[in-house]
This record gives sequence, structure tokens and C-alpha cells, in this order.
Amino acid sequence: MRGTEAWAPGKLILFGEHAVVYGRPAIAVPVHQVQARARVSVGPPGQGCVVHAVDLGETVRIAQAPEDHPLALAVRLALKALALEPAPDWTIQITSTIPVAGGMGSGAAVSAALIRALFRQAGQEPDPECLSRLVYQVERIHHGTPSGIDNTVIAHERPIWFVRGQPPEPFDPSRPFTLVIADSGIPSPTRETVAHVRQRWQQAPEHYEALFDAVGAIVYAARGAMETGQIEALGPLMDRNQALLRRLGVSAPELERLLDAAREAGALGGKLSGGGRGGNVVALVYPEDAPRVCAALERAGARHTWITTPGRGARPEEPLSPDPTP
Ligand code: PMV
Repeated sequence: MRGTEAWAPGKLILFGEHAVVYGRPAIAVPVHQVQARARVSVGPPGQGCVVHAVDLGETVRIAQAPEDHPLALAVRLALKALALEPAPDWTIQITSTIPVAGGMGSGAAVSAALIRALFRQAGQEPDPECLSRLVYQVERIHHGTPSGIDNTVIAHERPIWFVRGQPPEPFDPSRPFTLVIADSGIPSPTRETVAHVRQRWQQAPEHYEALFDAVGAIVYAARGAMETGQIEALGPLMDRNQALLRRLGVSAPELERLLDAAREAGALGGKLSGGGRGGNVVALVYPEDAPRVCAALERAGARHTWITTPGRGARPEEPLSPDPTP
């Protein structure tokens, strides 16, 4: 039985979440230590396409699945782009190590791996723009009004400067830097925090526009620091971004506790990442301090921690195994 495989990384929003929905820039980075994988095999005959989401224990028969089922939509979009009609008899197995609803782009990565694997099975490789566009259409089911940042960074697999409605700009930091990511274990659907911010903005648009402008200024400063290699400057910028996220109402006591623990263990700064209220926090660290910061975060209640190094070079051929954490 012939088969093909593809994978896609997780992602992290480093600066600018929420404000990005209102036209301000954001910076996101791929996280290769977590990934979604899709494996396509041929057959059994007469079944059309069937997806097995192994971690969820779910089997989706595409021909019978509802229109708005995310996995089914991803398959249908890929088959349409490949002009494969009627659907071939393919079985697709999906696995993922990305926490669900945790701000690491699990939905977008699963869609990206799935679509890429189907293209490969058909003898093609989707270019990042095409992949990003298809994944975005699936993201709309998960998020309602996604800014498009998740699908973009996951499809391009490089740090991204992102402004809604403008072509994304992949860029490379002039020096790599080390981040510790901690999963709070609190699921927090992005759709809800985005709706919460929207409600507040509708009640006091001027106040919230000013907060979004302040976030935007931090994102510009962060890009400057990355491009000029002033890595230490990113720590205080993360702290300032976090203070604004608190004022947007998307932090949570558990996230603040994790960030305090990271700073006490030597992190240079940190913030929540993604929709907030739960999900992940990220902290900038000196490489030698990373294990200590991971340990402190785990003592403070983190479910899981990862060490990642944006800017260390091109996409790895194979996904990286998670960095060991003490
Ligand atoms: O929760 P995540 O990582 O999917 O990120 C959401 C980012 C927001 O800016 C809050 C929403 C968006 O669509 O950009």
C-alpha cells in the first residue's frame, strides 16, 4: 500500500494578539517542538476519503460528514484544489502533539498537515500561500473571524510579520533567541476571548483603540529588536504587551502566577500567548536558564513546558522531538 506523510508545526504569537484583529501588526513564530502529522494510505476501495483522528478517537467519512466539520472541510478543499473528483479511496490518519485550544495553533496545524499530505499523495506540493489560504477557510469554522495569523505562520513555517489584509512578511531574526513556553492546562476557546474583547471595544471604542495602538507600538519595537539582534530588549517588551493584555481583560490569575514564577526563576520577561484566559504563556530566557525556568513553571502548575529557539534556521526535515524538560 503506497502512502505519504506530511507534518506541520505548532505556532506561538509572540507579540500583538487581539490588537491584530483590529488591524495592528503581530509577530508569530513556528514551534517545531510540537506538530500535527497526517499519513495518507490508499484504500479500502469504495469508501471515498476517511479521516481517523487518532488522538480524538474520531472517524470521519467525508462523503457523510456535515458541511462545517473542520476535518471534512479541509479534505474537501484540498480535493477541490487538486481537481480530484470523485474523491479517491484514501484513508488519512491524523495525530498531533499540539495542545488543543491552547493557543498553539492545533486546529490550523492539523488542517495544514492534512492538506499538505493530500497534495503529496496527488504528487504535488502546495506553496505556502495556497496552503495558508485553504487552512484559513477551515479556521473560520474554529474561530469565527480569525485574523489569519495562525494559518499564515504555520504554512510558511518561519517567523511572520502579520498585518490583517496585507501580504504576510516572513522574516528572520538576526540572532536566535530562547523561549520557554508553558501550557497552563486551561482550555480557552479563542472564539470566546475574541468575542469578549469585541464587546468591550463596542462599549468604549476610543479607549480600546488606544490600547490597540499601544500594543502596535510594542510590536514595531519588537521587530526592530529582533532585526538588530537586541534580544534582551524583547523581555521588557513582552512584559509591556502583557500589561496591555491584562487591560484588555484576557489574562487570568493562573497565567499571572506562571509569569511571576518564570520571572523569579530568571526569565527576562513574559506574556500570555494567543487568545488568553488560559492556554499558554511564553517567557524569554537566556539559554542556560531555560531548564530552571521550565522547572519553576511546572512547580507553579504548568501542565507542560517546551523550549524553542526561533531564528535558528530553516525548517527541520523531520519534526523535532520535544526538548526534554526537567
Ligand atoms: O488563540 P490563538 O493562538 O489561536 O490566537 C488567537 C489570536 C487572536 O489575535 C486573539 C485572534 C486572531 O484571530 O488573531
